Amino acid sequence: MGLERDWNFDEIIDRSNTGSMKWEPGVLKVKFGEGRENLLPLWVADMDFLSPTVVRKAMEERLAHQIYGYTMMDEGYNEALISWYQRRHQWEIKKDWILTSPGVVPATNYLVQRFTSPGDKVLIQTPVYYPFAQGIVSNGRQVLENPLKISKGRYQMDFDDLATKAADPRVKLAILCSPHNPVGRVWTQKELEQFGKICLENNVLVFADEIHCDLIMPGFKHICFQDICDEFAQHSITANSASKTFNLAGLQQSSLIIPNARLRNEVSHFFENLGVGGRGSGTLFGAIATTAAYNGAEPWLDDLIVYLQENFVYLKTSLEEQLPGVKVFDLEGTYLAWADFRSLGLPPTKIVQIIEDEAGVALDHGNWFGKNGAGFERFNIACPRGILKKAVESVVAGFKKFL
Ligand SMILES: Cc1ncc(COP(=O)(O)O)c(C=O)c1O
Repeated sequence: MGLERDWNFDEIIDRSNTGSMKWEPGVLKVKFGEGRENLLPLWVADMDFLSPTVVRKAMEERLAHQIYGYTMMDEGYNEALISWYQRRHQWEIKKDWILTSPGVVPATNYLVQRFTSPGDKVLIQTPVYYPFAQGIVSNGRQVLENPLKISKGRYQMDFDDLATKAADPRVKLAILCSPHNPVGRVWTQKELEQFGKICLENNVLVFADEIHCDLIMPGFKHICFQDICDEFAQHSITANSASKTFNLAGLQQSSLIIPNARLRNEVSHFFENLGVGGRGSGTLFGAIATTAAYNGAEPWLDDLIVYLQENFVYLKTSLEEQLPGVKVFDLEGTYLAWADFRSLGLPPTKIVQIIEDEAGVALDHGNWFGKNGAGFERFNIACPRGILKKAVESVVAGFKKFL
């Protein structure tokens, strides 16, 4: 069946009054402060593009039934997920391994609660997606940072530091962000092998957050952590979702892949006690949208990746040419570009102030991701080029006043 190529990523869609966390003035005010309600938002990680039409149609069909009672996910969900990972990532997921969760952030918190005790330590690789640290701390556990290092202009894992830290008996869990938000790395097989080996040797359970795994730039390949070897598969839990890939975050559906039966049963019982997710249950429309997207929206994603890459090239060339000294790290995966403003010689607080008050743009500021993120900024480039251009031109003009 042919798919109508009806998408136009250049189209600017008005998201006002949709409760969009990214655009809602009330949210911007809380996050960025009084008077900053109307910043041009390139922050929170969703996209300003319409989801694929196949997704809307599948939901409309179910919507028309008009009974939205307790719903089990049908076999179609598992089949779509298995087939997607087989086709896109050459990874064979077995049906029994799949549990669901309302989202990857909730899943992270549940796993912290289930597999660590108060006071235990959880390893994260900073700068990294900040809800990890928030979840660890708010659950009464300790964050143990294994900071990434920049070597030859590229972020790398620090394995010596990881080996030392993982040996701490209070470390029970390590969160792997793969691909990595915000630094945009797609970890290589060799890097993942080293990471996994150190965790395994120290009996540290790995939680592999692979939510960005479908957003891979040409020339790079995402390696599924559990697909590297059976030992890794048996000592880890992977989270994935169609939410980043197809812009479905409001539907709160994610999957946990747990090949180890003991671990899987533990998570399953824990979820039963909490009354969330688990085996066979999910969110009604989240499951429908995920299934439709995996089955029918591959061409949409292929075109999206081309568009994102063009956006990235525009961002990198504009910032680096017009603000000499600013470095935008190569984007290997995700739609989140990470830029280093430190060599402009301005204090991080001034960088933030210029972006917000001079440029009028909302970005995720680097220090949110860890103290080694200060002086960096994260641009969400999943928006029509017209929006990106406006934001980049404003940022350039804002900084020029001070250089
Ligand atoms: C690494 C990572 N994990 C999880 C999430 C959010 O997951 P969810 O919306 O399923 O809770 C994000 C969103 O930006 C993310 O970047």
